[in-house]
Amino acid sequence: MRVGMLTGGGDCPGLNAVIRAIVRKGSFHYEDEFTGFLEGWRGLLDDLTMPLDLSSVGGILPRGGTILRTSRTNPSKHAEGIQKCAEALTRYKIDALIAIGGDDTLSVAQKLHERGVKVVGVPKTIDNDLAGTDYTFGFDTAVNVATSAIDRVHTTAEAHNRVMVVEVMGRDAGWIAMYSGIAGGADVILIPERPFDIDKVAELIRLRHSRGRYFSIVVVAEGAKFASDVDPQHGAPIVQDLGKDEFGHVRLGGVGNILAREIEKRTGFETRTVVLGHIQRGGTPSAFDRVLATRYGIGAIDMVHRGEFGCMAALRGNKIVSVPLADAIAKNRTVDQDMIDVAYGILDKLGQDRDAARR
Ligand code: F6P
Repeated sequence: MRVGMLTGGGDCPGLNAVIRAIVRKGSFHYEDEFTGFLEGWRGLLDDLTMPLDLSSVGGILPRGGTILRTSRTNPSKHAEGIQKCAEALTRYKIDALIAIGGDDTLSVAQKLHERGVKVVGVPKTIDNDLAGTDYTFGFDTAVNVATSAIDRVHTTAEAHNRVMVVEVMGRDAGWIAMYSGIAGGADVILIPERPFDIDKVAELIRLRHSRGRYFSIVVVAEGAKFASDVDPQHGAPIVQDLGKDEFGHVRLGGVGNILAREIEKRTGFETRTVVLGHIQRGGTPSAFDRVLATRYGIGAIDMVHRGEFGCMAALRGNKIVSVPLADAIAKNRTVDQDMIDVAYGILDKLGQDRDAARR
């Protein structure tokens, strides 16, 4: 078969490992040939391709980024974009396409599938917010990077008697904040799923310091929201600017600095911010992500040969299974309630005590 491949959306550690696994299993086992489309869906719109064979994937397993490069191009925002993608696949005599990406990339894959294109998806994102799979590859690496950053911040916070706020990525899901915050022993973890009351956060830090601790670590997800006075369950995320990408996403970022200022104002404790940003996405994948990405790649090429189109390779328990793309993109997978309870337990308790004292 001639198989096309592309990587779309934000890059993430493990993309090259997926590409390598697909090419190796496809070449050795099925005698497939491959065409790589460059820069996500842009490659199909603008005829940007590269040949993919065993030699082009040699040595890429531990490399971050993607040899196919990537973009946030959305064909639906270009005149006849979806049609042009389908035509490009016919022109290049592609029998099946493997799209490696998050919900945006896979939503385009689903549109192509609805037009009869033979497409299989692989779930990629450091945010871990895709439904249908237990984990996306890239998430574990991002968590490890964030955790080691928190460990480093700990020692400097302790040396200076400071509160340190660490802002991590994750878009509308708090998975990275939650996992790295728990692993790094953060005192406060704030995630988009539950707007936070800044007074409670300050009170918690004051209480901790009154028990003799002289520093605190706060991990905040970029999409975390200050609770509004009108409705505590709602708030708006902090954005860097009002522009949106072709999939309609604003650029998040900046909540850490605002939070630090508000904490310092309320507690009087010196507070600093660290924004981890794209450091979480760059560099070599963790061993877990290399294994997961390799298993996803093998799963995807096997799905192509079993004819499981319109589906995505997914991890359920410890098995790679095939799930409908439509289910994977139907909704964002946010942090489970029991994990939220772990992070917000003390804040909630503080709130209850405060309400009881007022009554
Ligand atoms: O979706 C992955 C992600 O890293 C998000 O966590 C973050 O909000 C966004 O991408 C940043 O995108 P960009 O690389 O376009 O700045």
